[in-house]
Amino acid sequence: MKNKPTVTVTVSPNGPYVVEGAAPLSKMTIVANRKGGSEDWRETRQYETKEKMALCRCGQSARKPYCDGAHAKIGFDGTETANRAPYLEQAQEIDGPAMILTDVESLCAFGRFCDPNGRVWNQVAESDNPEVAQNFVRQVNNCPAGRLVAWDRKTKKPIEKELPVSIGLVEDPVEGCSGPIWLRGGIQVIAGDGFKYELRNRVTLCRCGQSSNKPFCDGTHASMKFRDEPSSV
Ligand code: SF4
Ligand code: FES
Repeated sequence: MKNKPTVTVTVSPNGPYVVEGAAPLSKMTIVANRKGGSEDWRETRQYETKEKMALCRCGQSARKPYCDGAHAKIGFDGTETANRAPYLEQAQEIDGPAMILTDVESLCAFGRFCDPNGRVWNQVAESDNPEVAQNFVRQVNNCPAGRLVAWDRKTKKPIEKELPVSIGLVEDPVEGCSGPIWLRGGIQVIAGDGFKYELRNRVTLCRCGQSSNKPFCDGTHASMKFRDEPSSV
């Protein structure tokens, strides 16, 4: 990402994410196709935009998405365990004739945009077919976690739809759960010890408190059926 970030998220030790810089906050719901495959995103609720806010990351606040201090009562262990190396140093590369796919599996947020139309790992092998390539790029760009990135083989540049600076709270009706906090458009994540994680267009942060890859989401919210409010889907 080229531009200086205007919004920062600081991971407070065993406490909330402190968001500074007036990012628009909304609920982002996964829209499924007829077979239940993840197809698109829809904004289903907007929250008040605040210059500074504390978003719950222990999963136990009674005022989600905001922190209400429950983390202290439950003795939340928010230790950050994620690999701090830049994305490309961790990525596996899958080559295709016209495009390349890079993949860091540990970042997967289980949104399943990679699965329809034959799965992106197979599509890349047919990336010289315009129809396949179109689905491939769309599906990879819909991957909220930035686990997947598509590259143009000739120019060696990422094929990345720049997203507006904004924060989404993921809802997954097919799985019947709420998902991670989706940071879009280059929001700077700062660790509790001051380390600045790589600035990226798509990042998902754990919101249920149970990820083994904190501060990032690892998909655990789906197996534990995390809900941010009783009627959130
Ligand atoms: S985070 Fe990306 S790779 Fe993981 S399931 Fe979602 S779309 Fe697929
Ligand atoms: S992080 Fe404070 S209540 Fe969850």
